[in-house]
Parts: sequence; C-alpha cells; structure tokens
Amino acid sequence: MTVLILNGPNLNLLGVREPELYGRQDYAALTALVEETCRTEGIEMEMVQSNHEGVLVDTIQQALGRFDGIVINPAAYTHTSVAILDALKAVALPAVEVHISDVSQREAFRQISYAGQACVKTFMGLGLEGYRQAILYLKEYLNEKR
Ligand code: DQA
Repeated sequence: MTVLILNGPNLNLLGVREPELYGRQDYAALTALVEETCRTEGIEMEMVQSNHEGVLVDTIQQALGRFDGIVINPAAYTHTSVAILDALKAVALPAVEVHISDVSQREAFRQISYAGQACVKTFMGLGLEGYRQAILYLKEYLNEKR
C-alpha cells in the first residue's frame, strides 16, 4: 500500500506560524510522525508540501497509478480551490482530509471545504495527531475495498 501525504500553503511554517492554533511542533516533526506511522503500519509513503495551487493539482494528477490513496491538508486552498476538488475527483483515489485546527469553530470563510467534497473522511482539531488518524483510517478503508 502506497499513500501520498499532501500539504498545502504555509504548512512548511508549522511551529512558527500561529502556534496557538497550529501548535509548536514544526514541519520536520510532522514528517517524523507521518514516517513513523507509515513504517509501523507497513505503508509506503511520499510527503509533499507546496505553497502553489498548480503544484498541488499536478501532484494529485501524478498520483494516479502511483498511489493507492491520498491524505490531504489543502490548508487555505481548502476554502477556495475548485481546481483541487476537480483534481481529486479526476483521479478518483480515496482521499482523507486533515486539518490541524478545528476549522468548524473558526471564521465563516473557513466553513466551506471544496476538497472535502471529494474525501471519504475528515479529521480536524486533533493537531498533528490528525495525520496519524487519517493514515490509519485510509489504511482500513483501502483494506476493506480490496
Ligand atoms: C488548516 C486550516 C485552514 O483554514 C488554514 O488556512 C490552514 C491550515 C489546518 O490544518 O488547520 O492553513 O488547513
């Protein structure tokens, strides 16, 4: 089983960026958590972060035939990007959405998730642990489908 972990804009600034919302652990800590989870679960993974919408779209398109599923935190593009939604729909790989913060309790403009409409499940407000939950959920989902 091979999984793509995709992170959107500003997530490279984890630890520095609004720590009261996103915590004090940095992107390297997130990478370590994801790597450790995948190693324990026997999952191969690649983790990509980009601040550019088009790169995220390209990466989703290129996932077809290479990955069994996607864990995605589209960050701010969650709330704006029909292109990312369409890319997820186009490749039709099972995708799980993650948000570090609880977006349901934040500003009105964060209440819409375009990407989430192509995802089988969303984890939010769990901090970095949400990524672990998303990976475990995706593994279970893919195993059931087989
Ligand atoms: C986020 C929530 C988004 O609203 C925000 O734009 C982010 C991070 C989260 O992980 O909580 O950049 O996706």
